[in-house]
Amino acid sequence: MTTEEAKSRIAELTEQIEKHNHNYYVLSKPTVSDYDFDMLLEELIRLEKEFPQFLSSDSPSQRVGGTVTKEFKTVKHKYPMLSLSNSYSREEVQEFENRIRKLIERDVEYVCELKYDGVAIGLTYKNGKLEQAVTRGDGIQGDDVTTNIKTIKSIPLKLQGSDFPAEFEIRGEVFLPLKSFEKMNKEREEAGEELYANPRNTASGTLKMQDSAIVAKRNLDCFLYFILGEELPFKNHFDNLNKAREWGFNVPLYMRKVKDIDGIFSFIDEWDEKRHTLPFETDGVVIKVNSYDDRDALGFTAKNPRWAIAYKFKTEQAATLLNEVTFQVGRTGAITPVANLQPVLLAGTTVKRASLYNADQIEKLDLHGGDTVLVEKGGEIIPKIVGVDLSKRAANSERIKYITNCPECGAELIRKEGESVHYCPNETECPPQIKGKMEHFVSRKAMDIDSLGAETIDMLFQKGLVRTIADIYDLKKEDIVTLERMAEKSAANLIEGIEKSKAIPFTRVLFALGIRFVGETVAKKLALHFKTIDALMNATFEQLLEADEIGDKIAASIKEFFANEKNVDIIKRLREKELQFELSEAENTKVSDKLAGKTFVVSGVFAKFTRDELEKAIEDNGGKNVGSISKKTTYIVAGENMGPSKLEKAQKLNVPIITEDDFIKMLATN
Ligand code: IVH
Repeated sequence: MTTEEAKSRIAELTEQIEKHNHNYYVLSKPTVSDYDFDMLLEELIRLEKEFPQFLSSDSPSQRVGGTVTKEFKTVKHKYPMLSLSNSYSREEVQEFENRIRKLIERDVEYVCELKYDGVAIGLTYKNGKLEQAVTRGDGIQGDDVTTNIKTIKSIPLKLQGSDFPAEFEIRGEVFLPLKSFEKMNKEREEAGEELYANPRNTASGTLKMQDSAIVAKRNLDCFLYFILGEELPFKNHFDNLNKAREWGFNVPLYMRKVKDIDGIFSFIDEWDEKRHTLPFETDGVVIKVNSYDDRDALGFTAKNPRWAIAYKFKTEQAATLLNEVTFQVGRTGAITPVANLQPVLLAGTTVKRASLYNADQIEKLDLHGGDTVLVEKGGEIIPKIVGVDLSKRAANSERIKYITNCPECGAELIRKEGESVHYCPNETECPPQIKGKMEHFVSRKAMDIDSLGAETIDMLFQKGLVRTIADIYDLKKEDIVTLERMAEKSAANLIEGIEKSKAIPFTRVLFALGIRFVGETVAKKLALHFKTIDALMNATFEQLLEADEIGDKIAASIKEFFANEKNVDIIKRLREKELQFELSEAENTKVSDKLAGKTFVVSGVFAKFTRDELEKAIEDNGGKNVGSISKKTTYIVAGENMGPSKLEKAQKLNVPIITEDDFIKMLATN
């Protein structure tokens, strides 16, 4: 391909991909299959690597992330980023509307919108290109989070049409759709990690993450609701926002132009009712004066515009009796205290239980047995207890004591420094941990033995047929048919499912083992880095840290897992049954042998690759990655912030240091 051809193909792919992104993420009407889309994106990324001179800052490849920001730059807002005054009652909304009519002395048009519960963001566009994205901060200056914002696929990097002003700012709310939030928490649960409390905090934490590749995987979304600039096409809010939608922005359709207070109230009433059916969180309604002339006439107070107000929905709360606090033991031994309540109706569902999270939470609430508690259902999927009605507390009631021993096996609980959760350390003997580990082991993303459900596991456990995951592979048809409701045919199916699972690739076997903090992604990284279970088992703490995305917490957990003789024995037995404990060819596909015989050390942070991609590219082309520099190292690929000790060692041993661009060239020309 000539340079000219590459340039025009890159432009063509960029346009097509962004069109597909818009169709999918803004219009919810995809016109291409996921596979075809991936192929286009892959082609673009490949061409940009080959012809880095044509990689532009608005390329859809930027949405994959990969750039790591050490510290976010502070940026002054061109227009201060004000907040709205809040109102909590209809009277206050009525007063707001009265005030406006008195000042304007005629009927005023309003736009009602939902109040999206996320993180405010200001996006600046210059000549149709996303230039900068800044958080609110203190309203005067905020953080430049442009690289992270670019991973949000509904935010256009380049605008459609040509009738947009040369420069303007559009503001909106970055949020995490409920589905994505639930999915994330499910994955955290599987990895035995503490759950995120609510979508808003998660969105806000995500926007501030340093590694944009992780941000890209979180499926953040963004609604736009406010446009600012000197040359906007219309002199009112509603028309400008509709115009912005034509330019490609995700301007929500949940907005309505109304002409009086009745219109405002019907919008409020309608959404107070329907809000629970939305796929995202909303905590109220925003009412804005439509005309810019009217807005100018109304002006601002010190903190807020006089032409808009937020009406906050009441968070639904209910008072009910605390019957008992019970303690659940999870697969990883994590203890969750649960409040068992007198059933009460809340936000359309009957609530019988509420999570109490951990010991600190119980202490903070100063919970006593028999208390009347206030339950709230906010962003959390599980209702939570937000307070105690002290006036109803019995004089002789006793404070809820946290347990010291496991309710299932009696082992003494432990609580590690810096963690808020108690654990039962009796991993290999505690029944719910054994059963939980087995359920995880056979689950779809792990060994995928779907004929072995929770109920069957329970029966097998009760009969003493299984005590560890390795026992699953010793099961015989004769054992299984003795179980209740287990006919010959289902028993045969089960045996077949178990047999088939022996072909499940190493990456998934590693995930299936249920090592604390080793979820699906971490298991993949570990498998790619260490290649065999032996290498992983023998890795030192430092060597574990060298793998991509492995920090102290995960490394410690892996060391702890393999330090337990019982786990080592389980792996030995699984190995005898011929499960996959090495990375297969298919998991580790080779593209070329260009780098054969060469050994690389990758260090630092890169602009065009994530570390993982870079290491994969080395391996895909026949090279070898090693963690530490020695005489045998052929090259060090150095990014930003390469560690000083590595640099010193490289110089001492005379190992050549190359940049990522040198590396790209090496692949292209060699
Ligand atoms: S308009 C000057 N519209 O709620 C007014 N804000 O304090 C600019 N929010 O800072 C904001 N949904 O973070 C506006 N439809 C909406 C909104 C909205 C959520 C947030 C935003 C704002 C805060 C109000």
